[in-house]
Amino acid sequence: MDSRIPGFHRLTPAGRIAEVERRLAMPGGSLAAAFGLGSDVASLAARSEDVVAGLVLPLSIAPNFRVDGLDVLVPMATEEPSVVAAAANGARLLRHGDGISTTVGLPVMTGQVLVEGVSRPAEAGVAVEAAFPALRAAVAGAHPALAAAGGGLVRVRAAPSGSDLLVSLDVDVRDAMGANVVNDACERLAPAIEAASGGRALVRILTNACPGRLATASGRVPLALLDADAGHARELARRVDAISRFAERDADRAVTHNKGVCNGIDAVLLATGQDTRAAAAAAHAHASRDGTYRPLSSWRVEGDGLAGTLVVPLAVGTVGGAIESRPACLAALAVMGIRESRYSSRLAAVVAAAGLASNLAALLALAGEGIQAGHMRLHSRTLAMALGASPDEADDVAARLATEGGRVDRGRVERTLDALRRGKPA
Ligand code: MEV
Repeated sequence: MDSRIPGFHRLTPAGRIAEVERRLAMPGGSLAAAFGLGSDVASLAARSEDVVAGLVLPLSIAPNFRVDGLDVLVPMATEEPSVVAAAANGARLLRHGDGISTTVGLPVMTGQVLVEGVSRPAEAGVAVEAAFPALRAAVAGAHPALAAAGGGLVRVRAAPSGSDLLVSLDVDVRDAMGANVVNDACERLAPAIEAASGGRALVRILTNACPGRLATASGRVPLALLDADAGHARELARRVDAISRFAERDADRAVTHNKGVCNGIDAVLLATGQDTRAAAAAAHAHASRDGTYRPLSSWRVEGDGLAGTLVVPLAVGTVGGAIESRPACLAALAVMGIRESRYSSRLAAVVAAAGLASNLAALLALAGEGIQAGHMRLHSRTLAMALGASPDEADDVAARLATEGGRVDRGRVERTLDALRRGKPA
């Protein structure tokens, strides 16, 4: 099979699928049926290149969240079955300890203009920094809506980088994620920076590291909620505390600890149309900021509670084409109560809260029965539904298999469903 397909770009999505089917000698229409070529494919085709279909993910709404004193329903998109249940469970526990409290840093993103061929970097740096008023005015002129909202260029910093001059442009992006405005500022201001420094710009792009846009989420679970038996509850909390400390001294464990945090974060980012790759790059840069990869959150037993705090950079936006042109993202913002206000800081707060709640649920599962039991319940439920079970039947199949224990596979689920329908014991 030759993967070069001349003219592929000019075909319609249906035409592209037919071409791929032909090349792979697949029955005509089989791929289209599997991909589910829906009616909205034309709008999807306008968003990317060489589109053949849409990839559908389950979109859920997680209950139980109370963030900064306000209840909020949290849209989450994920392919992993246990993620939403875990987040909702973590949020349920945390709401009994007064909910999740957050802080969100100022929405400042930084652009990097690296200038080569500067003969006197120290003097050039002073000249570039002195040009701040003109540079700020140029950004305001190009982005009047941002300026009207109180955003814009807030600082210019120049410093040597090797034999070059690095000019950092700090932009308050207000409710935007900020990539577009910062990249525009870098390219727009580069000629003025070249003129002031006497060099030539090599790089003109934002950095996705956003150390000023840190979101923190903290919460506390009363121990009494963890188990009716006070001794068991304290032991479970002690184990969560010890697992957290393990992640703090072991980078391999920290990676998986942070994966549990990202389960919640990514799902909300996806549901609200955010740039998940930018978020991942920033989060992991933050996790390794002192040269060692560390967990983004930590948990401790404090008095009669289990207290946790998560700190993560979050460059999220509620305005901009990527979100405003997608009704599903606008609907997700509406569900979270920020469709009108467009407060990106509230979105960041809820994203961080979802990360904290997911992390708590994961650590409690690890400290308790382990994660496989819950995964298997959901897996058997999913298999049963795929075999045509109703939601109630799927619940019954999952419960029966959980009681029996052991490996869950399609054959066992099929036999259990069959037995259940015939009213037989499994
Ligand atoms: C699985 O999706 C996430 C966990 O592995 C996270 C963790 O180990 O903390 C359970």
